Amino acid sequence: MAKVASVVREIEQLREEIRRHEDLYYVRDDPEISDAEYDALLARLQQLEQQDPDQITPDSPTQRVGGRPAAGFAEVVHRRPMLSLDNSYNLDELRAFDQRCQRLAEGKSVAYVAELKIDGLSLSLHYEHDLLVRGVTRGDGRIGEDVTLNARTIRSIPLKLRSDASAAKRGKAEISESKSGTAKLRSEISQLEVRGEAFIPRKVFERINAEREEQDEPRFANPRNAAAGTIRQLDPKIVHRRKLEMFAYDVLSGERKPFATHWEALNWLESAGFKVSPERKLCTSIEAVIEFAGLIEAKRDELDYEIDGLVVKVNSTAQQDEFGTTSKAPRWAIAYKYAARQATTQVVDIVVQVGRTGALTPVANLEPVSLAGTTVARATLHNADEVKRLGVRIGDWVLIEKGGDVIPKVLKVIESKRTGKERSFRMPRKCPVCGGEISKPEGEVVSRCIAADCSAQLKGRLLHFASRRALRIEGLGESLVDQLLSSGKVRDAGDLYSLTLADITSLERMAAKSAENLLAQIEASKQRELANLIYALGLRHVGDRTATILAKQFGSLDALGRATVEQLDDVPEIGLTVAQSVRDWFDDAGNIELCRRLAAAGVQTKMVQTSASGDDSLAGKTFVLTGTLTAFTREEARAAIERRGGRVSSSVSKKTNYVVAGDEAGSKLDKATELGVAVLDEAAFSQLLG
Ligand code: IVH
Repeated sequence: MAKVASVVREIEQLREEIRRHEDLYYVRDDPEISDAEYDALLARLQQLEQQDPDQITPDSPTQRVGGRPAAGFAEVVHRRPMLSLDNSYNLDELRAFDQRCQRLAEGKSVAYVAELKIDGLSLSLHYEHDLLVRGVTRGDGRIGEDVTLNARTIRSIPLKLRSDASAAKRGKAEISESKSGTAKLRSEISQLEVRGEAFIPRKVFERINAEREEQDEPRFANPRNAAAGTIRQLDPKIVHRRKLEMFAYDVLSGERKPFATHWEALNWLESAGFKVSPERKLCTSIEAVIEFAGLIEAKRDELDYEIDGLVVKVNSTAQQDEFGTTSKAPRWAIAYKYAARQATTQVVDIVVQVGRTGALTPVANLEPVSLAGTTVARATLHNADEVKRLGVRIGDWVLIEKGGDVIPKVLKVIESKRTGKERSFRMPRKCPVCGGEISKPEGEVVSRCIAADCSAQLKGRLLHFASRRALRIEGLGESLVDQLLSSGKVRDAGDLYSLTLADITSLERMAAKSAENLLAQIEASKQRELANLIYALGLRHVGDRTATILAKQFGSLDALGRATVEQLDDVPEIGLTVAQSVRDWFDDAGNIELCRRLAAAGVQTKMVQTSASGDDSLAGKTFVLTGTLTAFTREEARAAIERRGGRVSSSVSKKTNYVVAGDEAGSKLDKATELGVAVLDEAAFSQLLG
């Protein structure tokens, strides 16, 4: 009995702690622990809940991705339509909006709230008794789609409203006051609707597009498309990985707004646990709004997300009600759109790049032009179809746009500027780097060089092999790879492991010290996880997540190489395309030979066994990691401890056995000293691991 009570207590404490860290990370952007530490807390909670499923509650942090893929989305009628906004494109139009508001206010003063217009998609969230029960897309404004399971995966959306914050209590009091104490009132307060804009941060967007490119899927044109495509995914796990966020901007109780002013509503939302954009301003005149617009425009490129302007809203709820709405948009709000970030320039040349898979990518070299604070000299044209669609020729004037993506894109050709001297571009018939054959299979948009010894491909493959998510050989960058290839010392990843000190010091700008470092890095790369190795081999359609799944499932490179298409296809989350691609890769004799040479060189090709069947030298020992280690990432250090049966915790207590302190260790080291816990430096830690 006592045991059960203590488990329940641990579950509650874990939930509290996880919620606090989610809030710090997703809402406040001020995390206190690493992602791995967070994952460990969540994993522990999951474990306890699995042991006693009765303890699972819908607001538990483990329940964000509990759902199964839906067959489709049910339609939901919005209680109050989700309107759109009228737009203004210059300051005159913004001032005209102010004058209209002044007129409608009949002499009373009008205050505004200026906030960011996030380039995402709006969501409506329904809360009953503080719990998130439904998430709905805007749809056509009247009817949206039920995307509850996906909304639950968005970590800046609280599954449970925070009710302890004093401001939250104040918020509730105001809700009650404005409803003057009837019985109906209580059930209505218990139902709240929160609206906001879901979006994908720029960094995540770039990551998603890089992954999609790697897996031969089309890139998303901008973060808004990526967000919209994501929220309508049928599999919540995919949504979870895409890391959507949401800024809340409105709260309703039934059809009514529960606060006297919009400003208070935003503050209440923040105290209830939502992420509300800190870039907001209460303005007593339109001139103050205009000043704010200028400030935001100046720092637009520094924001982590795309905005396309501001939204200006009348602050007083009573005035909003008086002004009313048209069928499309409220009369009390307006969007102020920034000028599009476009420029015109001339295409100096169109060149073709060859990537590690042999894919040919046409790129426009441009007359440098300044655009949104940076100088742009190149724009990708993606593939031959896109070149054809645009009809772009060398010498053409083009309109380019910088969207959420780092690489600008060509929007269209300005045909009126043609002189007749433009030259049309044709995709080369041979590889521009090695002169090898090119193939473009039916139904695919990408042409590829299929030569086995194309140096552009060799280079791309080596750089990929050494990249961070692969075998992480630091220092093996472009210029070194170029030299290794051109000197003939290396042709593929297998050759890296027979390099000698003399081989490396004979290259340009390679002092003995750097050569030694590189050799040490190459040596260390033999010990990476199987998943990293599978990813490093660069199989088509196998990104790092797929590699992790395959590693877990098959346990060794040999076993993976023996798997049939059917066996691969049976693995959860692995589809036929990946299955076929893996099989094709291992059916290539050259690839099998590469695997053999890597194994012979001592590269780890098996999943490292967990302590269940091997080393349990650290069983029962609790570690805390702090600071940065040089030979291990946090995840690797954790894995090394866990493999030997030890446990890693996020905070130091009397029960901690060892604190492993790397460079710039912080307060955890102080705490360890204070409590007399053993402190290991990196060397001592390595020794302990044996
Ligand atoms: S208020 C009736 N606030 O812009 C009020 N909308 O063009 C309408 N949007 O559908 C919504 N940021 O998706 C509001 N801070 C913000 C917003 C915002 C982005 C989007 C929203 C809306 C669209 C209208």
